[in-house]
Amino acid sequence: MNQTFITLNDGTKIPQFGLGVYQVPAGEETEKAVREALAMGVRHIDTAHAYQNERSVGKAVRDSGIPREEIWITTKLWPSEYGEGKTAEAIDKALARLGTDYIDLLLLHQQFGDYLGAWRDMEKAAAAGKVRSVGISNFESERLEELCEAATIKPSVLQVECHPYYQQNALKARIAKYGTVIESWYPIGHGDPGLISEPLFTEFGKKYGKTNVQIILRWHIEEGTILFPKTTNPVHMKENFDIFDFSLTEDEMARIRDLDCGRRFFNMSLADQEKFLGGWAPAD
Ligand SMILES: NC(=O)c1ccc[n+]([C@@H]2O[C@H](COP(=O)([O-])OP(=O)(O)OC[C@H]3O[C@@H](n4cnc5c(N)ncnc54)[C@H](OP(=O)(O)O)[C@@H]3O)[C@@H](O)[C@H]2O)c1
Repeated sequence: MNQTFITLNDGTKIPQFGLGVYQVPAGEETEKAVREALAMGVRHIDTAHAYQNERSVGKAVRDSGIPREEIWITTKLWPSEYGEGKTAEAIDKALARLGTDYIDLLLLHQQFGDYLGAWRDMEKAAAAGKVRSVGISNFESERLEELCEAATIKPSVLQVECHPYYQQNALKARIAKYGTVIESWYPIGHGDPGLISEPLFTEFGKKYGKTNVQIILRWHIEEGTILFPKTTNPVHMKENFDIFDFSLTEDEMARIRDLDCGRRFFNMSLADQEKFLGGWAPAD
């Protein structure tokens, strides 16, 4: 069975599975992870200016020899780069760091600062062909509706924490009218051993000859969310990508849905995020 794609609200087709490179150091570590993922057939990389490894992602993509149009690159702008005019410049800088002519998906990383001004520049960049798709991340307050209502181009994705313990059903209902889909960050709970060792996943894993992590990742696929678990371990990488040769039954999906318990692994109030993250700016 081949890997799956999701058609976004702007008509672009994103590979549903990718590699996330949050907390992967720039240089050889990021290059190696991206190189290995691409060699295995993964065609989607999720980075951000804040991760400080866009140059390494771009280098690994170019060095792979795979045609650029076959690889999906997502990056994100930090609030220090938000504002009409300022964001246009930030997009050009992101293109230069990645060493590419266009970004497949550009996200607003956080829901504070001049996100409305930034969005207007993102729409202009989309019209100019510098960006194929535009979306948002971590907009969970009423700022989500504020941005979506003001937007001419509705966000294609909303990237948020999402896993079996925190399934984001209320958020999914709020974004449905914009045609926006969820991208799951912390898809395996940032590697949380409690989530991974959940007995239900062990039970299903035995049935399908799959690991607990593969069961969780397959659940995301069948829920229709987009995911990019982070790993720098080639054994984990191969395991994570090997989820397209089986399916969970409707009953099994329902039993995993029952694990939803409102437990997040990242807990910071909006005020604290604004205070701690808002005061920081990534280096060029
Ligand atoms: N927009 C945002 O604000 C935001 C926030 C957080 C994350 N993200 C994105 O989401 C991506 C994923 O999130 P995340 O990296 O924080 O969490 P995650 O993918 O849920 O978990 C990553 C952790 O799980 C381990 N792991 C991966 N595959 C495994 C396997 N098969 N078996 C056992 N352990 C495994 C990894 O260690 P090893 O490397 O040792 O395998 C790592 O410690 C990020 O890389 C980033 O692209 C976005």
